[in-house]
Amino acid sequence: MPSASSLVVVIGTGGTIAGVVTDTAARPGAHLGYEAGALTADALVAAVPALAALPLETHSLAQLDSSDMDHATWQALALAVTAHLARPEVAGVVVTHGTDTLEETATFLQLTVAATKPVVMTAAMRPATAPSADGPQNLLDAVRLATMPGVTGVLLAFGGSVYAGTEARKLHGYRIDAFGGGDAGPLALMQDGALRPLRAWPAPDGHAAEVLAQPLADWPVVDIVTSHAGVRGQTMLALVAAGARGIVVAGSGNGSVHRELELAAEQAQRQGVTVWRASRCVLGGVVGEVPGNAQGGGSAYALPHAGDATPAQARVRLLLSLLLQRQRQPGP
Ligand code: SIN
Repeated sequence: MPSASSLVVVIGTGGTIAGVVTDTAARPGAHLGYEAGALTADALVAAVPALAALPLETHSLAQLDSSDMDHATWQALALAVTAHLARPEVAGVVVTHGTDTLEETATFLQLTVAATKPVVMTAAMRPATAPSADGPQNLLDAVRLATMPGVTGVLLAFGGSVYAGTEARKLHGYRIDAFGGGDAGPLALMQDGALRPLRAWPAPDGHAAEVLAQPLADWPVVDIVTSHAGVRGQTMLALVAAGARGIVVAGSGNGSVHRELELAAEQAQRQGVTVWRASRCVLGGVVGEVPGNAQGGGSAYALPHAGDATPAQARVRLLLSLLLQRQRQPGP
């Protein structure tokens, strides 16, 4: 058995980091047209010679293209991470994931896992078969980060930067440097295996851990509607009719909401649905008092906003908030 707190558990969930182009003979060096999640966590680790000497344990929890991520995988992942962190011999956990929905899973883990040891997510923009595959270096950085004393919380190690779980966001659909940390930027840099912190480290969270015990069938439906020119209020009302208990409006600019959607939101709220605003802008979130349409929209109708969270991250926060409310005030 490895010495006290030196073991890193690597949990694979799929993604491009585990992606394979199957017709490389016809398309040598291809970056696209690969099968995401084809490789197991074992295979990812075996492809990085520098990991051979380190005490690692690997588990393949899923082999998904993360655009197909679901609540069942989130629940199983958060429970698995929590169980591994509780083992005294474990220094930290690494989660390999697709880039597409990583910011959602990272937010979910940050809010549901009391990560007093590091939980480091990592990913790649190029499949494992590409000559320029970025997965091996990202995985090596993630494992090294997961063994560093004093590092806590849910993090993303990607492209030589370290992001806080709730701040990481995908900014580009193709480039290797696809992630950013929003206005806050990265927490730290990984430079030749060493951590270079850039600002104060956020405290671990995990305040919503109790929701993991709730059966999936009881998890409320929470959807996202984008505010755009010509949007129809019926779109939101159709979601309410289909069972949504929470809706995030991806508002324009500083979270402004088209008047048609505002009217629909008012009606949805009268039916007991919680409606939040976020911003569809790539950066910046919503600035201003909560609740309120602080800038630009000129709207009298106020909906709470989700601050810096992207619409997808806001959806995770609203889902957990509704689950916590239900748990703390069980209904009839
Ligand atoms: C995915 O998110 O699973 C595919 C895209 C990626 O990992 O870059």
